[in-house]
Amino acid sequence: MDVIRLNSGTDPVYQLFCEYAESECIYRRLERAEFEERFFATVEGYEKVFLCAENAGAAAGIAAGCIKLGGDVSYVTALLVAREYRGMGLGSALLSALEAAMKTPDTKKYEFSFYNPQSLPWIVPGTPRHDHPGYPGMDMHGDGYIFMKNAGYRDYAYQNAYYHKLDGYVTPPDITEKEFSAAKLGYSVTYYDKDRHYGVAECMDAIGSPGFKSAVMNNVCSENAPPLIVAELADPDGAHARMVGFTGPVFVQPSGRGYLAGLGVHPDHRGHGLGKLLFCRLCRALKDEGADFMTLFTGETNPARNIYEAAGMHVARCFSCMRKAIK
Ligand SMILES: CC(C)(COP(=O)(O)OP(=O)(O)OC[C@H]1O[C@@H](n2cnc3c(N)ncnc32)[C@H](O)[C@@H]1OP(=O)(O)O)[C@@H](O)C(=O)NCCC(=O)NCCS
Repeated sequence: MDVIRLNSGTDPVYQLFCEYAESECIYRRLERAEFEERFFATVEGYEKVFLCAENAGAAAGIAAGCIKLGGDVSYVTALLVAREYRGMGLGSALLSALEAAMKTPDTKKYEFSFYNPQSLPWIVPGTPRHDHPGYPGMDMHGDGYIFMKNAGYRDYAYQNAYYHKLDGYVTPPDITEKEFSAAKLGYSVTYYDKDRHYGVAECMDAIGSPGFKSAVMNNVCSENAPPLIVAELADPDGAHARMVGFTGPVFVQPSGRGYLAGLGVHPDHRGHGLGKLLFCRLCRALKDEGADFMTLFTGETNPARNIYEAAGMHVARCFSCMRKAIK
């Protein structure tokens, strides 16, 4: 058996991936071009690695990951061994070969986590092929979880993936009361209006997520961007308002999934119900736009889970962010 590095997909490796996607694993099957794009196309700042264990021209297993160039971390993306080759040490051999191929003089750790830019889409089990765009960690219900633990990877955070079928969405009964209490303090939730709202960058800096900031800044700077939902604190004159929170934008993906770039409230304005008001407004707007479902993930201990659960979402899958330090 030879383990070789591939620079583009071959039919046997593509077929192996497709055979196990959506059966034993929850990866969504990829079209051939998408497979090529995910596993081999260049992503700035990263180097992708794809290994194949070959036996007489057949693909017995694959291992894929990527190196963060100039960083101290390399990411494991996928590891798969064909059923007839299991129990022979091939999975461990492929993982070791992948780690060796992803080790640079700077590498200090390997991770299976949502920071991996090569993350694969997956199907939420028990749904009509409703998918989520990225893996937030190792699927804790799959065989891979224990395998990775035995290979020296340790949990460092847990992520819950939430699912919501939007056709049954109804605004929770306490929302009207929360709107009323927030309004007494000058807060309300509305659509972003460039002639009314100020303080966008300041709000995003205070929330502190670079990913959220770039999504929101790109949205407000673009003419044709889908509408962004914001929480505002009105000025005394009523004509202008400070932006103090955001969610959205309101956009339905071709799969029927209601998109979500993020949810955040400025730390000085938390605890007034704005997180809940923003998210419930988004669910309603997405439903009205024809979205079938929503998926998102958040940390096990993130208080945002209160907001998602109150809106009717449930935990569909748990993922572990795993890490192995190089000794
Ligand atoms: C999560 C976040 C949006 C909440 O904003 P908020 O305006 O304070 O939220 P709300 O006031 O609407 O609170 C909603 C519920 O969560 C609870 N909650 C909010 N923060 C909490 C905390 N730190 N600890 C425990 N519970 C909390 C509230 O008690 C409330 O429950 P209730 O309606 O039953 O009283 C805000 O903390 C934030 O922006 N965090 C950083 C960004 C982030 O993590 N976003 C989520 C990414 S998935």
